[in-house]
Amino acid sequence: MGEIVVAFDLYGTLLSTESIAKELASHFGQEKANSIAAVWRKYQLEYTWRLNSMKHYEDFSVVTRKSLLHALAEHSVSLGDQDIQKLMEAYDHLSTFPDVNPALKRLENNFNIKCVVFSNGTKTMVANSVDRSQDLNTSVFQGLVTVDAVRAFKPAPEVYHFLAQQVGRAGQEDKIWLVSGNPFDVVGARACGFQAAWVDRAGLGWQDRLGREPTVVVKSLEEVADAVERHAGSR
Ligand code: LAC
Repeated sequence: MGEIVVAFDLYGTLLSTESIAKELASHFGQEKANSIAAVWRKYQLEYTWRLNSMKHYEDFSVVTRKSLLHALAEHSVSLGDQDIQKLMEAYDHLSTFPDVNPALKRLENNFNIKCVVFSNGTKTMVANSVDRSQDLNTSVFQGLVTVDAVRAFKPAPEVYHFLAQQVGRAGQEDKIWLVSGNPFDVVGARACGFQAAWVDRAGLGWQDRLGREPTVVVKSLEEVADAVERHAGSR
C-alpha cells in the first residue's frame, strides 16, 4: 500500500465550535447562547459560500467576526469590542471531540498514512486553534493546509486541487482522504475525485442530495483508520 494522505477538516470535525457557546453563555445564559452559537456557525459558512459565488475573498477571521455580529443582531443583542475580541479568541481554545485523540494516536502508529489539517481558516487562525486547543494531540499532523493561499473557500474545486498539490498527490486524488463532519465539504472533495469519510457523530445518516456520497460514513473518528486500511486493501 502506497502512502495515503488523510486530510482532516478542523472546525466541526476535530474541534467543536459548539464549545464557543460556553463563552456566550456568560453574557446571555445557556439557552440563548446555544442559539447564537448555532446561528453564528450557520452564517459563518453561508458567508463563505456567498463570497465564493461573488468571486470575492475575505479571510476567515473577518468572516467569523462579521457572522458573529450578524448572529447577535438577529437575536437583538450586542456586545462591546472587548467582548467580541474575547469571543474571537475563544476560537483559539475550542475543545476537541472526545473521539479525536484516540483516533489520532492510532493513525500516528500507521506509517502508511500521512495526516494533515485542511481548513477554511487562515494559516494564523488554524495554527492558533491547533496549538492552543486545550486538548488536541497535534503530533500526528505533518502539515496545515489552509485556503488563504487560494483566496477561495470550500467547496470551490481550486481549494481541493491546492490540497492535492500541497501533499504531493496532484493527479492521484483517489489516494487522498478528506475526513469531515461537514457534508458540503465531503461533497466538494468527492466532486474533485477524493475519497471522503463523513463523520456522523449524531447518527442521523447521510441526507445531502447534491452530489456524490461519502466513500464511508463513520460514527466516530476512531473508525477512520480501519476504513482507510480496508479500502486500500480492497483495491
Ligand atoms: C473548516 C470549516 C469547514 O475548518 O469548518 O474548513
